Amino acid sequence: MIRIKPKHLITGLAALPFAAVLFAWSGIFDVSASSGHWKITEWFLHFAMRSSVRTHALAVKAPDELPRHALKPAAGHFARGCAICHGAPGEPRSPAALRILPPPPDLAGIVDEWTDPQLFQIVKHGVKYTGMPAWPTQERDDEVWAMVAFLRELPGLDAERYRELAYGDAEPALGRAYGFEEALAECSRCHGRDGQAGGESVPVLAGQSETYLLASLSAYLEGSRPSGIMEIPARAVEPEFLPELARHFAAQPRIVPARTEDDSALHRRGETIARNGISQTRVPACLECHGRTERNPLYPNIAGQHENYIAGQLELFRDGMRGGTRYNHLMRNAAKNLTDGDIEALAAYFSRLQAPPENETP
Ligand code: HEC
Ligand code: HEC
Ligand code: HEC
Repeated sequence: MIRIKPKHLITGLAALPFAAVLFAWSGIFDVSASSGHWKITEWFLHFAMRSSVRTHALAVKAPDELPRHALKPAAGHFARGCAICHGAPGEPRSPAALRILPPPPDLAGIVDEWTDPQLFQIVKHGVKYTGMPAWPTQERDDEVWAMVAFLRELPGLDAERYRELAYGDAEPALGRAYGFEEALAECSRCHGRDGQAGGESVPVLAGQSETYLLASLSAYLEGSRPSGIMEIPARAVEPEFLPELARHFAAQPRIVPARTEDDSALHRRGETIARNGISQTRVPACLECHGRTERNPLYPNIAGQHENYIAGQLELFRDGMRGGTRYNHLMRNAAKNLTDGDIEALAAYFSRLQAPPENETP
């Protein structure tokens, strides 16, 4: 009878790495994707992926409610950044995508297997060795949560509703935009041709300072204003069209809905902070910069901007996650001591304020 002594076992284990290198060196192992995975490899990779996602998602804290108000920009991003591999309602996966190993799954049938924090973990960090990419920027989480909200809707979306969310009434070209009209169609998917569409989470561009719009586009391109959602369209158009796009949107009239609850306590509190600031917490008066008729053209017009958008941006500034143009430090400073209540009040006030007169220097 052969007896395995501990000595043999240790020698055997020590030799394993050399055997593995020898096996890899021999070239017998087939790396070609055409040969597929062995069943056991496929099982093991998926098992490892699920276990890793499950463990890492334990540290993810989900918001109380998923940001369903941001479904539209998330759908718009899905159309460009995800559908190419996963397909979408009315847009089946391409034959090329199906040849990726492992093939990207049709998400509508699979999202229910994951919890919200697990979907967040996958979408933010991607999956190694599979082609599933990480979110374009790791610096903010709100956009990833918007995508999780969209993924939750996906199983119930028909092709028509999906098109409406992802493309609006635009007919964008699928590849790169080489003409001004194509470029405008790309932006219109989310912002509308009049710069006023897109719902609560997409900023109104109509009537915005042209200088600020252009500088913000550069900030997205350079990464000094992190946004996975805006980075892709900013890169999809030829840079020569950006000044023309900024001019187009700046020239559109901004329509501010009439005020209905003028004297609500929230609105009044917002107005007081905007005019006087808060001396105890050293919050400056917002209108010092955002209300002047002769303000620097890099100070944006926030009167009549969407309430949710204003609140979202103020939170990002406060938490140090909103980059921007070369003046963005002024705003980080102004927002750093705002409470959630201050933000709510300011968003209520500014979103119903009729636009202050423009001061655009050419
Ligand atoms: C280049 C192709 C590619 C792109 C682009 C891509 N994915 Fe994936 N995705 C994959 C592959 C491949 C897998 C399978 C990973 C696995 O099974 O280990 C995957 C897996 C997933 C999963 C987990 C599903 C499951 O149970 O396996 C989710 C959720 C997901 N992707 C969402 C997204 C979202 C949202 C986007 C866009 C922001 C996106 N993906 C972009 C290739 C892609
Ligand atoms: C997929 C949806 C989507 C598309 C397409 C899109 N945008 Fe945006 N855009 C957004 C969202 C969402 C934001 C807010 C991002 C943030 O938090 O910084 C934004 C922000 C902006 C801003 C900053 C506005 C401000 O008030 O600070 C500008 C300028 C802008 N977009 C211009 C464009 C242009 C020009 C195009 C076309 C090339 C375009 N966008 C295409 C969704 C989109
Ligand atoms: C010292 C001048 C200054 C003060 C004071 C100031 N801001 Fe700003 N604000 C700016 C500048 C500059 C930007 C543009 C930042 C960038 O993108 O580079 C900005 C941007 C913003 C934005 C984002 C707009 C958009 O379209 O994305 C909001 C919202 C905002 N400010 C609200 C406020 C509020 C509310 C206050 C008062 C608590 C305030 N600001 C005080 C200068 C100021």
